[in-house]
Order: sequence, then structure tokens, then C-alpha cells
Amino acid sequence: MSHPAFSRTKACVFDAYGTLFDVHSAVRNGGAALGDKAAAVSETWRVKQLEYTWLRSLMGAYVDFWQVTRDGLDYAFAAHGVEDDRLADELMALYLGLDAYPEVAECLAALKDAGLMTAILSNGSPGMLNSAVASAKIQGPLDHIFSVEDVGIFKPDPRVYQSAVDGLGVAPDEICFLSSNAWDAHAASHFGFRVAWVNRFKRERERLPKDPAAEIQNLLELPPLLGI
Ligand code: LAC
Repeated sequence: MSHPAFSRTKACVFDAYGTLFDVHSAVRNGGAALGDKAAAVSETWRVKQLEYTWLRSLMGAYVDFWQVTRDGLDYAFAAHGVEDDRLADELMALYLGLDAYPEVAECLAALKDAGLMTAILSNGSPGMLNSAVASAKIQGPLDHIFSVEDVGIFKPDPRVYQSAVDGLGVAPDEICFLSSNAWDAHAASHFGFRVAWVNRFKRERERLPKDPAAEIQNLLELPPLLGI
């Protein structure tokens, strides 16, 4: 059944990492040498990667997401007592071909069949995003890939969300934004997008302004929200 918050939707805009792509697939596919530290390394890597985006934005010290991702990995290795430069290089290479979540292609195809525009809006650098999209073979049903690289600051700076509005030429409330990252969902909702939080990991709701309009478990629940 369609959801009234999304009745004006002309475009669906997706966060990339954690929403379309499984960030833990790099360690899962190439981190066997980490043994029983694998899950903890992967978790620390993601946490530090995100922290560094927020901190660098506040510091006015932007570098691209490739560098931030490497810095997060280097921290994670040090924190868990891993010294292996070659493995770190290999895990970075795997970040260019992360697994897409299984329902992504079917969801995007349904949106395109319904005549909606589709886009990614991500912290990722253009090179990282283009590689991941090509590797997952989802470039066909994606109309645009918007990177923070063009803005020079990371999410949740409102200028990042504005860049999708400018790029698509639609109003904020005509954009349905999807993110599994709850902080990103709140920030996008605060900006003015109509947001569905993809709560893949069954997390608690964040205590931040502007709850998302809807909460779903995976992207197969998106077309019904839009009445498709
Ligand atoms: C992104 C991060 C937030 O893709 O996952 O922008």
C-alpha cells in the first residue's frame, strides 16, 4: 500500500555504502588471514571510516573517501594488532567491488519500469562509486551518481543533499531518499527529503531531529511504499 509521505516522489536517491553495497563483504571475501579477528576488524574499519568523515568535515580538512577509507583500515589493523600492508592493499581493492545486497537490482528495475528517476548520493569518490556500480552490474537502471567530491565536504552537511536536488532538478519533497545509515536518514529528512530508513541491521531509532517518514527492512519494501 502506498505511503502518503511519498505521493510526490519523482526520484529515488540511494545512499551507497551499507544501503546498496555490503561494506563487510571486503573482509568476508578477502580477509581470511584475519582469522577470528575478521568481524571486529571490519566493524572498527567502518566505524572509524565514518568518524573520520564527520571529524574532517568539522575540521575543514576534506580528503576524498578513498583516503578516509584507507585511514580507517589502518586504524582498525593497528587497533586489533594486525600488521600486513599487502592484506590492507587487497582489502582496499575489494572495496572497489563490494557485493551489492541481493535485492538491489530487482528494486532498481521496478523503479525504472515505473518511470522514476534513480540516483546514488554518496560520500564515495566518483572512482569508487563507478567501480562498485559496474562490478555489481547496476549501471543500467541508475540515472545518476552524485558524489560529495563535487561539494568538498561529507554527509550530513546539507550542501551534499542540496547537490542531488540541483542535479535532478526536482524539489526536495519529490525525492525519496533511502539509507541504512540512521544518521544519514535523519539528516536527509531534516534537509527536506522524504526518507525511508532501510533498517537492515535492526538498530534502535536515533535520537536526532526529524524521524524518517518510513522504516523498512530491505529495498524490496520500497516499491510498495511508492504504490508500485
Ligand atoms: C555513503 C556512506 C554514508 O555511501 O555510507 O555515503
